[in-house]
Amino acid sequence: MSRQIPVGAVDELAPGQRKLAFVDGRSIVLFNIDGTIHAIDNACPHNGASVASGQLEGCVLRCPAHGLRFDLRTGCMPGVGGLSLTTFPVRVVGGKLVVSLGDPAASPAQAPACKSAP
Ligand code: FES
Repeated sequence: MSRQIPVGAVDELAPGQRKLAFVDGRSIVLFNIDGTIHAIDNACPHNGASVASGQLEGCVLRCPAHGLRFDLRTGCMPGVGGLSLTTFPVRVVGGKLVVSLGDPAASPAQAPACKSAP
């Protein structure tokens, strides 16, 4: 069962911005991309590096450590299969950002495997 964790006010995260939230010893990064909020675990699935400062190209985040790229909407690497970021459902409730933990949207154990592009 998932837990609903408030991580800040929605107006603290304008389009184009990102923020870190710490919940239960876990680091989560939230991104506002054109008004859509995405939440991911702040650990690259390749080698565990923080991805919070990674370069964004649209919805694709580049890990600052070795350059692997992940689509924030799915957690998957675009164009190739394999590793995926853990993503979390996030919604706005009463002006607050609320992340669902314990029910990852794209954890490697629960999400469908990322597929290679045709
Ligand atoms: S730790 Fe992210 S690409 Fe290697």
